[in-house]
Amino acid sequence: MQQSKTTQIAPTIPFLDLSLTYSSIQEEIDQAYHKVMKNGYYIKGEEVSLFEEEFAKYCNAKHCIGVANGLDALKLILMALEIGPGDEVIVPAHTFIASWLAVSAVGATPVPVEPDPTTYLLNTDLIESAITSRTKAIMPVHLYGQAVNMHAINSIATKHDLFVVEDAAQAHGAEVDNMRVGSCGHAAGFSFYPGKNLGCYGDGGGVTTNDASLAKKIRKLSNYGSQERYYHDDLGINSRLDELQAAFLRIRLKYLDQWNARRTSIAKLYIQEIKNNWALPCSVKGNKHVWHLFVVQVDGNRYNIMEKLLKKGIQTLIHYPVPCHKSGAYQNMNSLSLPITEKLSKNILSLPIGPHLKDNDVEYIVETVNKI
Ligand SMILES: Cc1ncc(COP(=O)(O)O)c(C=O)c1O
Repeated sequence: MQQSKTTQIAPTIPFLDLSLTYSSIQEEIDQAYHKVMKNGYYIKGEEVSLFEEEFAKYCNAKHCIGVANGLDALKLILMALEIGPGDEVIVPAHTFIASWLAVSAVGATPVPVEPDPTTYLLNTDLIESAITSRTKAIMPVHLYGQAVNMHAINSIATKHDLFVVEDAAQAHGAEVDNMRVGSCGHAAGFSFYPGKNLGCYGDGGGVTTNDASLAKKIRKLSNYGSQERYYHDDLGINSRLDELQAAFLRIRLKYLDQWNARRTSIAKLYIQEIKNNWALPCSVKGNKHVWHLFVVQVDGNRYNIMEKLLKKGIQTLIHYPVPCHKSGAYQNMNSLSLPITEKLSKNILSLPIGPHLKDNDVEYIVETVNKI
């Protein structure tokens, strides 16, 4: 495959270097590790409760439930909303496949809606024409760190009596008109996968919601359908955030705004200084974009460009090369035509962004890109 060629050279500027964010806070992380290990509680302890409180507050939400990963967070929300076989959920056509997989996992059908080609986000003008009598929910994905227009989503949802399930896996701290993601719909799913803006050192996820009874239901479903040990009321699953990851997340949460600000300043610099024929990403007016990814649309052979950049030491990635409806997992949808999504998936590539980059890395990336 063309792509595999690009992975053989070790980059001097890797797309992501998680060891650098660890070393910058190593002392605190190591202390937290020893504290939890000595404490002897590794599941459902104090660190998880404290993180849940702190993250809910950060999101301006009333409740947070720590779960095992972002996919489970979305799945548990849908389970608690009793969405299942025969139901449809509106999803963005252009997203990471986990948004769709959560819908499929509960037996419902994901109904894709095309993105706006400039923001990459779910085009809210196209949602109503995708609603049928089976539609139960809309799942806006705050893709690449930017929030979807939640005013538009919520007014469509109210009009059609639908649930709103935010997929906030890529957008910790993002805002739309001063509303923070995680507090804009009925519930939101977050991923704390290591590479996320707020990531742990393994898998982790969380659900936020302002609805106390939904929170209670999700907590129960995530713990074998049980509220009281060995008494099981529902067909639940085992999906819990563990103490160690919660302890690490509590520390990393303190740095999240600082890290997001660094991402934003890198994105601003890219936008100001990259001067070629690429289409650069934009931040919608009124939005606080947290730049999980910096995704450009290139003109010409993408793999050649990636190869040239890698030869100069810069690693780039593609988010995502295969649209969900063209993937093997969704063979029943392979014949769907979603031209905007298909075009994006052919032209996009992601430049490195994140707190691991130094000023001279960013300058070097700009300089190199401008010469290509
Ligand atoms: C948009 C989106 N939704 C959901 C997920 C699933 O999160 P996790 O990998 O923690 O299961 C991801 C993870 O990459 C994601 O990017």
